[in-house]
Amino acid sequence: MLLEVDRYYRFIDIDNLNVIQNKVLSLITDISVSGSMLLTFTNRHDKNLFNDIASIKEINEFLIKHNLSEYIMDYVVGILNPDQTMDIHSDPLYTDPATLKTSNRQRVLIPIKNCENTTTSFYISKEKPELRYANDANGGLLPYDYYSEEKCELLAEFKLTNPALITTDVLHGVKNNTDSPRINLWIIFSNEVNLEDHLWKIGNI
Ligand SMILES: [Fe+2]
Repeated sequence: MLLEVDRYYRFIDIDNLNVIQNKVLSLITDISVSGSMLLTFTNRHDKNLFNDIASIKEINEFLIKHNLSEYIMDYVVGILNPDQTMDIHSDPLYTDPATLKTSNRQRVLIPIKNCENTTTSFYISKEKPELRYANDANGGLLPYDYYSEEKCELLAEFKLTNPALITTDVLHGVKNNTDSPRINLWIIFSNEVNLEDHLWKIGNI
């Protein structure tokens, strides 16, 4: 039976995690980003990086193992600077103009560096959000719905000590109260697949 928190996040097994972490890190040449954070949607912002990540054998083995290869939309590298917070928000679904595929409400998060001491929290709020923008890797702006923490009620929180499947249309925020950048990799799938069926119900956890 699923626990309440399973609706928000659940740890999953990915073989050879250390190898994946080292390979992704080797592809990130500069982790000193300006501002509080930087999100690189590699399929949109850095096609070479997208292809490099898509070529990592151990990531492909994970996708093949769970029959997920055909649903890949993007790999996103997220860097949250030391002593910075990712505002409470929900992630908007988006449609890839090239394929017309729409993103899944759930995604896979892989800790790459310094994620184990940072906190991801899920919230509920009755307040109307405020439209804000985050920087993207091309100097553009990514819109998101911002919610103030004082007006939110905490539902659950966890430290990204392992890869996880997370639900991104539940309000969430991240705090990096450490003195190093936090780096993670999101795998974004299309909404053609039910990720719970592929990752939760097959007994790999
Ligand atoms: Fe998010």
